[in-house]
Amino acid sequence: MKKNKYLIIGGAGYIGLVLLDLLRQDYEIVVFDNFFFNKVDDLKKKYKNIKFIKGDINTDIKSKHFKNVNTVIHLAGLANDPSSDYNPNNTVLTNHISTIKIAKLAKNNKVKKFIYASSCSVYGDHGKKLINENTIERPLTVYALSKFSSEKEILKFNSKSFNVISLRFATLFGLSKRMRFDLGVNTMTKNVLQGKNIIVNGDGKQYRSFVHVKDVAKSIIFFMNYKKKLRYNVFNIGAKKNNVKIIELAKLFEKIFPKLKINKNLKNFDFRSYEVNFDRLNQLMNNKNFITLKEGITEIYDHYKSKKINFNSKIYYNLRIVKSK
Ligand SMILES: NC(=O)c1ccc[n+]([C@@H]2O[C@H](COP(=O)([O-])OP(=O)(O)OC[C@H]3O[C@@H](n4cnc5c(N)ncnc54)[C@H](O)[C@@H]3O)[C@@H](O)[C@H]2O)c1
Repeated sequence: MKKNKYLIIGGAGYIGLVLLDLLRQDYEIVVFDNFFFNKVDDLKKKYKNIKFIKGDINTDIKSKHFKNVNTVIHLAGLANDPSSDYNPNNTVLTNHISTIKIAKLAKNNKVKKFIYASSCSVYGDHGKKLINENTIERPLTVYALSKFSSEKEILKFNSKSFNVISLRFATLFGLSKRMRFDLGVNTMTKNVLQGKNIIVNGDGKQYRSFVHVKDVAKSIIFFMNYKKKLRYNVFNIGAKKNNVKIIELAKLFEKIFPKLKINKNLKNFDFRSYEVNFDRLNQLMNNKNFITLKEGITEIYDHYKSKKINFNSKIYYNLRIVKSK
């Protein structure tokens, strides 16, 4: 039987490589990426049955890339606040305009499903209120606005024959073959590995929601394979047990690494707080067994503790790579 064909745009990134490891045996996969963080030839050697296409979504993606594709997973773009602030015009082009172009190309080429990597940052600050998918979005940054505005536009393309699904990921953590040390929990773990203290901004009472990169990949696969009609198009991706106050996260680090020191930076007060509700996801897939913060931190620590790597290399930091291009 002919396998379904999946096009993963931005599939060579932090989420992408975890996804490829889970998918590579059973699916026909094409990755389209400009390989900001790795070399296409290295990936071709490692993932022999995956097709890699090098190109920029702003200039090189064409109708031909969508021929006979069943599902598109769109992960490409500027993936955090600092790299989106660096050149806002480029962020609008890459994250907003190119996303709409890609969704149009997909629909015109009779792709059936379009899965978009959105972010819980679209909600902005809601203080003590628990955020769900019906909460009004108040994006506070160029990045958050670019994710929200794209999502809003591509959801208009949703139809009986073209299912648009937008997954709003909590802040990710965990190990990937394309590692990022510019994500909160990963940065803190890297500081431990470098023998540095952990800094908490303000009193640490602000809430954040986290999700392990492997659970994000598993959620994407869940929606790729979901055959029934979905009641909703937008889902928060994460689990209640990984909603924590920053001070609780710091205390968790202290518990895992008893010698560690926590420094509070009271001058740098971070008022932004958000705590996300993941019940909509939980009604479809069990998120109670998602990987915990403790497991994710320990996994990163154990992986790197005996490795002599340069934690300051720019490949681990999106902003530095974007600046160097
Ligand atoms: N990591 C998180 O905490 C998080 C949270 C919410 C949402 N997201 C979203 O998930 C997606 C993937 O995030 P990630 O953490 O894997 O980021 P990443 O930066 O590791 O991966 C992005 C990939 O897109 C590629 N890319 C970037 N610009 C491109 C362009 N113009 N043309 C072609 N390819 C391009 C990069 O080479 C990279 O392989 C992003 O859309 C991001 O906004 C991430």
